[in-house]
Amino acid sequence: MLMPEFWEKYFKTYDVLNEVVPYQQLIDRIIQEARITDGMTVLDAGVGTGNVPIQMKKAYTHIRIIGIDTAQEGLDRWKTKDAHAESFVHNIQNILPFERNFFDVVVSNNALYTISRDKRTQVVKEFYRVIKPGGTIVIANLKKGFSPFAIYTAHVKTELREKGFIQTTAKIIRMLPETLKMFYYNALIQKEHAFGKFDFFEKGEQRQLLHTAGFQTGDEISVYAHQGLLVVGTK
Ligand SMILES: C[S@@+](CC[C@H](N)C(=O)[O-])C[C@H]1O[C@@H](n2cnc3c(N)ncnc32)[C@H](O)[C@@H]1O
Repeated sequence: MLMPEFWEKYFKTYDVLNEVVPYQQLIDRIIQEARITDGMTVLDAGVGTGNVPIQMKKAYTHIRIIGIDTAQEGLDRWKTKDAHAESFVHNIQNILPFERNFFDVVVSNNALYTISRDKRTQVVKEFYRVIKPGGTIVIANLKKGFSPFAIYTAHVKTELREKGFIQTTAKIIRMLPETLKMFYYNALIQKEHAFGKFDFFEKGEQRQLLHTAGFQTGDEISVYAHQGLLVVGTK
């Protein structure tokens, strides 16, 4: 299956993730680490169905967010959720159509793992070029050996704690068809990895990537029920 075709199919069920607690927490953490203030301009690279910008705009109303992605289907879905969504189809392996120092913040969630290792430095150097001096980058990606089951288990545990047995069980049953599809697509993601298409991140690798591109970074942060890693860089 070709990559854009894969994502187009996955997007039919992708937004069920918005119901999953570790995914909600991941998005909240990305937004928190992005250190946004009103008036800022933000790029979401590999924006998908717009889940990060939608939450970002809830927290900060006076910001501009531009989302880019290779899959038109994802951008179309974002548009149905936010009529003012600003987006266009673009492959982040190509030169970004923005002047240097254009953005205050760049975020990219679970997109870089889909790009082969040898191309990632060039992609992140482009992010560096378009970020203003003093600006922030936040990248998060699944780590090597990640388990979708661990993400789901963490979700169920939190729901049980917060909502109790009856409500949680009812929700599990209601969401079962979409959840099964989600597991199916995640199995495909891992299978694609087996064929060498997706290359998930080793510990420390994202930090090194940002360093090589010129950013100063903090420590890597464990996210997504410990199945992903997040790193923040400053230009
Ligand atoms: C797992 S989804 C993540 C979507 C979104 N960032 C989120 O947090 O839910 C990965 C996204 O990366 C996009 N993508 C993959 N390779 C890309 C590339 N070379 N350029 C732009 N987007 C890409 C896919 O189309 C897909 O929308």
